[in-house]
Amino acid sequence: MGQDAFMEPFGDTLGVFQCKIYLLLFDIVANCLLLRFKLSVSSYEIWKKGACSGLKVTVPSHTVHGVRGQALYLPVHYGFHTPASDIQIIWLFERPHTMPKYLLGSVNKSVVPDLEYQHKFTMMPPNASLLINPLQFPDEGNYIVKVNIQGNGTLSASQKIQVTVDDPITKPVVQIHPPSGAVEYVGNMTLTCHVEGGTRLAYQWLKNGRPVHTSSTYSFSPQNNTLHIAPVTKEDIGNYSCLVRNPVSEMESDIIMPIIYYGPYGLQVNSDKGLKVGEVFTVDLGEAILFDCSADSHPPNTYSWIRRTDNTTYIIKHGPRLEVASEKVAQKTMDYVCCAYNNITGRQDETHFTVIITSVGLEKLAQKGKSLSPLASITGISLFLIISMCLLFLWKKYQPYKVIKQKLEGRPETEYRKAQTFSGHEDALDDFGIYEFVAFPDASGVSRIPSRSVPVSDCVSGQDLHSTVYEVIQHIPAQQQDHPE
Ligand SMILES: *[C@@H]1O[C@H](CO)[C@@H](O)[C@H](O)[C@H]1NC(C)=O
Ligand SMILES: *[C@@H]1O[C@H](CO)[C@@H](O)[C@H](O)[C@H]1NC(C)=O
Ligand SMILES: *[C@@H]1O[C@H](CO)[C@@H](O)[C@H](O)[C@H]1NC(C)=O
Ligand SMILES: *[C@@H]1O[C@H](CO)[C@@H](O)[C@H](O)[C@H]1NC(C)=O
Ligand SMILES: *[C@@H]1O[C@H](CO)[C@@H](O)[C@H](O)[C@H]1NC(C)=O
Ligand SMILES: *[C@@H]1O[C@H](CO)[C@@H](O)[C@H](O)[C@H]1NC(C)=O
Ligand SMILES: *[C@@H]1O[C@H](CO)[C@@H](O)[C@H](O)[C@H]1NC(C)=O
Ligand SMILES: *[C@@H]1O[C@H](CO)[C@@H](O)[C@H](O)[C@H]1NC(C)=O
Repeated sequence: MGQDAFMEPFGDTLGVFQCKIYLLLFDIVANCLLLRFKLSVSSYEIWKKGACSGLKVTVPSHTVHGVRGQALYLPVHYGFHTPASDIQIIWLFERPHTMPKYLLGSVNKSVVPDLEYQHKFTMMPPNASLLINPLQFPDEGNYIVKVNIQGNGTLSASQKIQVTVDDPITKPVVQIHPPSGAVEYVGNMTLTCHVEGGTRLAYQWLKNGRPVHTSSTYSFSPQNNTLHIAPVTKEDIGNYSCLVRNPVSEMESDIIMPIIYYGPYGLQVNSDKGLKVGEVFTVDLGEAILFDCSADSHPPNTYSWIRRTDNTTYIIKHGPRLEVASEKVAQKTMDYVCCAYNNITGRQDETHFTVIITSVGLEKLAQKGKSLSPLASITGISLFLIISMCLLFLWKKYQPYKVIKQKLEGRPETEYRKAQTFSGHEDALDDFGIYEFVAFPDASGVSRIPSRSVPVSDCVSGQDLHSTVYEVIQHIPAQQQDHPE
């Protein structure tokens, strides 16, 4: 009794019942084995009693990783269901291919250590957990804890814990060879990870934080502590680091960036102003234009500018920028070449382009073509509209009069009547025209319709035709005089 503190809620009736069934099956098998191998029947009987009587020993982890020189605690829990008088706890230590060693044991609260190890192992019964302090490499192995309960018979149970001992890892250092760098597609590169302290090291290489895998250009040493890149390419540029792990620690090296010489790639010429169409730049006369030549390369390219005139070419400047002042140029069209050279990779690239000088004014407009500014378009359209309006005005002013005059001479009366019926202010354009004064004498009594040009009034039919018809006179006094009254 008195061990309630260690009782755990596991030995319920169902559990015990199931256990007994399993044990019955197991018993049949075990008895066959016992007969076969003539094993000790008594030890088996003792174990069999413990199995179903509710004594249970548990450990949180069957493998515990310890750091050398530090204390290591091996936690153990146990519980049982029977009344007990004595509680015995025994710790044994075994290494592969050696005899198990007794470390210490206890009955109730009194501990009996092996005197050889008495300063190293500590237990506080009835707590079965073991403290190892300090942990050393020889302490690596299996630790077995056995709990015996003496009550109505003896119950027994045990557990095994595997303990490893390691030194923590010191920070890895990566060495790169060759340190001066390698030329793309020509050179190889080897990264080696060095670690001063630590046991059971597992190496991993990271590029930009992601693991590096074996590929056509990447290979590893058997321990993975060396990464070999053959050949190097521009894509291999990145942040490399070496990550080293062991059971008790993990350390990453500083980032290292291999020097890889490449290029030039993607050569192109740009300008601060001027219009670029393909390889042709157009620039206004009098303007200075600045060209910028750039290509991706390491180390930076050396640039040279070449001018081509007819058959001859000559270098005009070194450096990535070239200024062309168009007023100083005699020709209207000039051919240039920008040449980029990487003096480490020994490779070069060049691009040709043409500069066309345009003079300001109409030629400029023509040259720029579609690129007319919106303002210019608006001005142009406005001018066109104004001129069109003027022309239309002038045409209307002179042309229609003659036509009307001709028509008036042979026009029958009915036509006028008809015209009156649909004359109206249908359209403002109809009002645009020549008007005249007409007066009719009362002689014959026959109603005569005056010569009228464009319909104006819609109430003529109801009016006295003898009276003067109101008309708007547009200033053509000379022609009016000719008109008969
Ligand atoms: C252990 O304790 C129980 C009661 O707590 C007692 O009966 C028994 O004699 C003790 N055993 C030893 C070896 O002291
Ligand atoms: C055993 O003792 C350790 C401290 O030495 C304690 O942390 C642990 O909880 C104890 N176990 C039990 C079951 O009381
Ligand atoms: C002891 O065990 C026997 C059989 O295993 C049982 O008959 C007896 O009642 C038990 N005694 C106590 C005190 O539990
Ligand atoms: C690079 O490695 C390849 C294959 O491993 C080898 O053939 C070549 O000679 C190496 N180049 C240099 C410059 O070491
Ligand atoms: C590499 O590291 C530098 C800083 O050390 C950082 O600026 C750069 O963006 C990193 N490159 C990549 C590809 O992560
Ligand atoms: C080396 O790394 C690879 C993965 O990159 C891994 O599969 C292999 O087990 C490692 N070898 C050693 C000895 O750690
Ligand atoms: C270019 O050179 C060729 C001979 O190399 C010559 O026949 C030709 O006339 C030259 N053209 C000009 C425009 O100088
Ligand atoms: C390569 O060119 C750079 C300038 O971009 C110059 O500083 C360097 O000395 C040159 N190296 C060689 C080997 O010519």
